[in-house]
Amino acid sequence: MPPTNPDPMQLFLDTANLSDIKKYAALGIVDGITTNPTLIAKEGASLEKRIKEIAEVVDGPISAEVTATNLKEMINEGRKIAKWHPNVYVKVPSTSEGLQAVKIFKSENIRTNTTLVFSASQALLAAKVGADFVSPFIGRLDDISEPGMDLIADIVKIFKNYNFATKVLVASIRHPRHIVEAALIGADIATMPAEVMEKLIHHPLTDLGLEKFLKDWRAQAKKLRA
Ligand code: G3P
Repeated sequence: MPPTNPDPMQLFLDTANLSDIKKYAALGIVDGITTNPTLIAKEGASLEKRIKEIAEVVDGPISAEVTATNLKEMINEGRKIAKWHPNVYVKVPSTSEGLQAVKIFKSENIRTNTTLVFSASQALLAAKVGADFVSPFIGRLDDISEPGMDLIADIVKIFKNYNFATKVLVASIRHPRHIVEAALIGADIATMPAEVMEKLIHHPLTDLGLEKFLKDWRAQAKKLRA
């Protein structure tokens, strides 16, 4: 059966921590970065400085979020952010002002990521106004006992039905199973904290198996030397 999504799934880090970004980028598994005002505040960094620092490490989409809530200020802020680096995507909240902003940014060739998406209707509207990415927050839905992954399945189906170019960026990921399920559905991108990326790599049976292989190998080498 041919894959339903022709492009390989992309993995982003959801952090503004430079040492984590450098660590995982060095493994060759980081396709992009998402940040939000909380993550930037946690680092105590200036948004502009940190986004530029990240762009030196990762050659892929980097989301930087506007903090203005009214349209005029959102547009001014987004235009400034977009000038920082060609890989920057302006992250805009899923509000009426945000939708208008995305449409204006689209007409100016500024790429956008519509964030804080919690329903398929919000994702549909973001796609209609030309968002490049939509970010449904699945962990926060799970937190209130609503199945976040069902939302991903709905959005992927809707975008496929109408051939929307908007990519589904699964956000608010809590554990590796979220990524596997998103991949099974065919979501374009998953963004995750560093701890989850670390967990993606490991399996206890890999560690145990390697330990046994090496133990057997060393025992055999010892015999040969004797
Ligand atoms: O950056 C957006 C999103 O991934 C935040 O996740 O863990 O704060 O719900 P979280």
